[in-house]
Amino acid sequence: MTRKRARVAVVGSLNMDVVVKANRVPKMGETVMGEAVHFIPGGKGANQAVAAAKLGARTVMIGAVGDDPFGQSLLESLQKSGVDLRGVKIVSGVATGIASILLTEKDNSIVVVAGANSRCLPEDVAAGRELLSDADVLLLQLEIPLETVLAAARTAKEMGKKVILNPAPARDLPDELYRLTDVITPNRSELEFLTGRPVEESGLESSMKELLDRGAGCVVTTLGEQGAAFLSPGGGFRRMKGYAVEVVDTTGAGDAFNAALACGLSEGMELPAAVDFAGRTAALAVTRLGAQDGMPQRKEVEDFAKRL
Ligand code: RIB
Repeated sequence: MTRKRARVAVVGSLNMDVVVKANRVPKMGETVMGEAVHFIPGGKGANQAVAAAKLGARTVMIGAVGDDPFGQSLLESLQKSGVDLRGVKIVSGVATGIASILLTEKDNSIVVVAGANSRCLPEDVAAGRELLSDADVLLLQLEIPLETVLAAARTAKEMGKKVILNPAPARDLPDELYRLTDVITPNRSELEFLTGRPVEESGLESSMKELLDRGAGCVVTTLGEQGAAFLSPGGGFRRMKGYAVEVVDTTGAGDAFNAALACGLSEGMELPAAVDFAGRTAALAVTRLGAQDGMPQRKEVEDFAKRL
């Protein structure tokens, strides 16, 4: 049986990731020597767009880069993956967004300077209305101005599209945005930020329920190597196991997950199947260096499923 091709729109950020590998994170005031530096296309929005396109979705992106060499390489990376770039504008006199990423064996830490991402405005969403109308699912994150995220969510809902909000990096959100969101996908620390309390295993479900109570359609929490949990009014609370893999770089794991979730739902998968597909995609993504470079192709995700 041929599956329906996913149609995904992303309104979000594009960053050049300046990735430094080091043995450990320096203490405050300390200097440590790094092993290597890499310049790799990133940004939560662009990573999700590239991942969706590699999974076979017809993918369109709305965003902004500066008129500098980093901006050019970000556009090339999107184009190479087959993302429709008509909604990405080049802002003159402004630097492309940068993410300074410290990569250690255990995990990563990231500082983002928004640059041109802060010029991704509600009027760009209005100008890209036709592009959005061609998608089934809109994917949003929080590295662009909140009013743009809201404008995109409102537009998508008016058009009857599904809205997935990846609340990263975490910030306080207006209730309206919860109500416009079909699926919200915090990781554990984002869930803690949004609910204002630590999330212990026993309290996971009740923390997720708080986001449902604020109006989100359903909540999917990513839990790293422990998999994911999801909660919906119809389906209740469920856990999905994680996949044991050799971790090289966790940058973009959440982006891979969100993109795959969007593809799965757009293709008509039920939530549990889409969450499992997303978990497998994220597991493969962390076995390689680089956010966009590490995103797996559809066939790799399918072959990975057969190996399990
Ligand atoms: O989610 C990973 C991304 O977060 C990186 O690519 C970096 O650009 C930051 O935005």
